Amino acid sequence: MIDQVLNIDALEAIPQIPDNSIDLIVADPPYNLGKDYGNDSDKRESKEFLVWTEQWLDLVIPKLKDTGSLYIFATWRYSPEIFVFLKSRMTMLNEIIWDRKVPSMGGSTRRYSSVHDTIGFFAKSKDYYFDLDAIRVPYDEVTKKARSRSIFVGKKWLEVGYNPKDLWSVSRLHRIHAEREEHPTQKPLEIIERMVKASCPENGVVLDPFAGSGTTAAACLLNNRHFITYEMNEEYYQLIQKRIKRLGEFELTSDLQKNEQANQKETEKQLSFF
Ligand SMILES: C[S@@+](CC[C@H](N)C(=O)[O-])C[C@H]1O[C@@H](n2cnc3c(N)ncnc32)[C@H](O)[C@@H]1O
Repeated sequence: MIDQVLNIDALEAIPQIPDNSIDLIVADPPYNLGKDYGNDSDKRESKEFLVWTEQWLDLVIPKLKDTGSLYIFATWRYSPEIFVFLKSRMTMLNEIIWDRKVPSMGGSTRRYSSVHDTIGFFAKSKDYYFDLDAIRVPYDEVTKKARSRSIFVGKKWLEVGYNPKDLWSVSRLHRIHAEREEHPTQKPLEIIERMVKASCPENGVVLDPFAGSGTTAAACLLNNRHFITYEMNEEYYQLIQKRIKRLGEFELTSDLQKNEQANQKETEKQLSFF
């Protein structure tokens, strides 16, 4: 099951995973907003949705190692109930706001337009893994220059970048975006890569029970982490297979390019004798 996507209901598959074996859970479940995923998973009665959410959360939490952590995507509609439940099982570290950078046009007329997703970040124990250096944000040249006075010289943070905050402004994926797959709620790689790099060591294992277009699998492949992931919808499952294959080919291409470069250097070295 490792480094494979399975076309299965996550709730059937999760019990097969050994307890205390997962470094990180990235969960982007249906939000219960009535989206069409080719099934009724996003169209439950409120109470039924919350019971189902607690059910799968109770299944995944024991799979985490003691150093493990969990990110869960939600919206303001259900995050209060979900976070209260999770706080009874884990330690809450952050509520991250994903600002989807929605342009200012139209929107709600009887309340404020909602332009963010809520992400809960929870740890299984106080010994949770977190690699800050892997996700520092580089300062831009203007800031670096502005802080070039002698009191800042040699300051490590200026060189290594700043600690990411809990407000993540990353544009949602538009139809024409190069990364875009045929999935209605695909998350930007930048967001999932940040979670994977910060909260799973290299060669560790990430569990994503609700694969969608396979963004977590892609982030793991690009960053040397293993994944376990499930998708119930057969079409999305096929889409993920293609996405994973394309990434494999991309890695192969870069390997070939690296080989070519290495061969060229070797030839140049040999020629320099003449
Ligand atoms: C919010 S989307 C995930 C999007 C994903 N993070 C991405 O970037 O593409 C949720 C997905 O979970 C799938 N799903 C819903 N219930 C499921 C279940 N019980 N088991 C497996 N997959 C399920 C849906 O078909 C949908 O594709």
